[in-house]
Amino acid sequence: MEKTDKLILRLTEEAKGRQGSLLYILNGINKELGYIPEEALLHTAENLNISKAEVYGFLSFFKNYKTDAEVGDIYRKIVVCRSESCEASGSKQLIEHIKASLNLDFGKYSPDGKYFLDYVYCFGHCAASPAVEVDGILYEKVNPKVFDKIIKTFDSNKLEEPAELKATDVVKKEAPVKSLIFKRCGYINPLSVSDYLNNDDGFKTLRRVIEEIKSKGDEGKLLLINALKQSKLRGRGGAGFPAGIKWETVFKEKSDVKYIICNADEGDSGAYADRMILESDPMSIMEGMIIAGLITGAEYGYIYLRAEYAAAKSVIESAIALLKDGGYLGDDILGSGFKFYIDLITGAGSYVCGEETALMESIENKRGTVRQRPPVPAVSGLYGKPTVINNVLTFAYAVYILKGNSNLEYFLSLGTENSKGTMPFQVSGAVKNPGIFEIPFGVTLKELLELAEADVNAKAVQVGGPLGAYFPLSEEFLDLNLSYEGVSMKNGLLGHGGVVVFGGETDFKYRLLNALDFFIDESCGKCAPCRIGTVRLKELLDRVLKKQNTEENLTIIDEILDSMKYLSLCAFGAGVHMPVKSLLTYFKNEII
Ligand SMILES: Cc1cc2nc3c(=O)[nH]c(=O)nc-3n(C[C@H](O)[C@H](O)[C@H](O)COP(=O)(O)O)c2cc1C
Ligand code: SF4
Ligand code: FES
Repeated sequence: MEKTDKLILRLTEEAKGRQGSLLYILNGINKELGYIPEEALLHTAENLNISKAEVYGFLSFFKNYKTDAEVGDIYRKIVVCRSESCEASGSKQLIEHIKASLNLDFGKYSPDGKYFLDYVYCFGHCAASPAVEVDGILYEKVNPKVFDKIIKTFDSNKLEEPAELKATDVVKKEAPVKSLIFKRCGYINPLSVSDYLNNDDGFKTLRRVIEEIKSKGDEGKLLLINALKQSKLRGRGGAGFPAGIKWETVFKEKSDVKYIICNADEGDSGAYADRMILESDPMSIMEGMIIAGLITGAEYGYIYLRAEYAAAKSVIESAIALLKDGGYLGDDILGSGFKFYIDLITGAGSYVCGEETALMESIENKRGTVRQRPPVPAVSGLYGKPTVINNVLTFAYAVYILKGNSNLEYFLSLGTENSKGTMPFQVSGAVKNPGIFEIPFGVTLKELLELAEADVNAKAVQVGGPLGAYFPLSEEFLDLNLSYEGVSMKNGLLGHGGVVVFGGETDFKYRLLNALDFFIDESCGKCAPCRIGTVRLKELLDRVLKKQNTEENLTIIDEILDSMKYLSLCAFGAGVHMPVKSLLTYFKNEII
């Protein structure tokens, strides 16, 4: 193994001139050693000319980094997903089994020092859950029996086949799917430029954008921005902000440097559309970033990918290299004289780093805490420069819409008044046909559950990720209109389109406690309502479950949730009330 000081020197050298250099170096050390040794702190600080305290402050923020004081040399590391889809598919029993059979607990070694147990909140492998990773190899549909077999084969060095979630299985194509952005997924070689060009008019939008800008200059850019505004495309990352307005703001800002960021942090449990499209059609996302750059005047683009997406990472790296070679990226895109560069930055296991300003902080080598707003990133984003930050899917839709007027019109013909086009709903949990259904907004929950062949005994769904509401499967909620406005009318959120189905055996008490652990773990700690509120909620719930002053404590829980809703700095703390209140309202009898 490379000696630590040499390893750090090499990584520092590679990180020179890159954004997100601390993430790059620490991820490299972590990959090589499994933890960050004390000496690495010092060397990294010296090499980057920052203090050791800054490096420590940074690494102690991220869940993936552990120091040698915490873990030392790990022999065999088991990481189990404890999030919603996996729980709805049996991870509670699996976790109990792992702990009992190997004498383990989270964050602890087994007494023989052979195994170390950790957890993750979603691997993005929800369509084949429960998911478990052993020494970096991911396994799907793991139950206690399968787990024992995996461990046995590991110990005998005859490894089980690792998990491979195929786009052809996961991305649904049968009617009534109206695929606008997932058409190529599973049907082309993601690392073939000619496959991309020859299927569904790859790079046609880029050529159109170049032509419009070459012939009309800023007028051409405004024409394209207006088309995007006309489409009413809303960002697919969760907040649903109109993409055209964001691009227009960045275009109008006067600045020597502007940035494009593709938010591929996809932390929502039950969500895996970003991952699937990046693995099976990465060039469509890069085309979206390039056109965003040319239209708004940005020359640098970054894809911020969540750490758990190892397969996507290698596809993206190769795709960037291919596009550079092919003249689609670099100093002279397709001979136009326009420049655009894309680099990949990998996160380190923080849900809040999906929030746009926390994400930018982490790229700037700072702890991933949320910034006060205004100013919004479109005015003052990465390094204080105007920045377009969009979700992966938003870029794909922009490419679709700007290809030509007929696409724009078709997009507008789909969906509802305030939610135009399609949404790749990602269904998992207690269903026979889990996967991505790209269908127009406005379908009912019932229709979606029929497509996914939900368990007839299913009791609940959670829509929109860990901050989304849980709905019982009564007539009222089966009629739920799956659009931004429809879900919001029922005090929920559509989020990134994840839908987790919970079966008849669901332990809602465990679900609520597990959700609260997630909120405590992932709060960035910047504002008091969320930092303190999340912990207080768990304490109070523990008392409620012990039947101590139940009604009084439930009232305090309600008050804390309201305070968090109105006083939190970002949508994380402000969103905790949705899952907690909906669970305590619709499933109160099963919890208390
Ligand atoms: C706690 C938190 C986590 C978030 N995680 C993500 C994420 O993983 N991916 C994403 O695209 N947006 C995420 N967002 C939303 C981003 O802040 C931002 O709105 C989005 O990247 C903008 O892109 P869009 O307009 O295309 O949706 C998150 C927001 C919050 C508050
Ligand atoms: S609400 Fe939570 S996650 Fe958001 S800024 Fe406050 S502490 Fe951080
Ligand atoms: S892989 Fe477990 S919830 Fe997504």
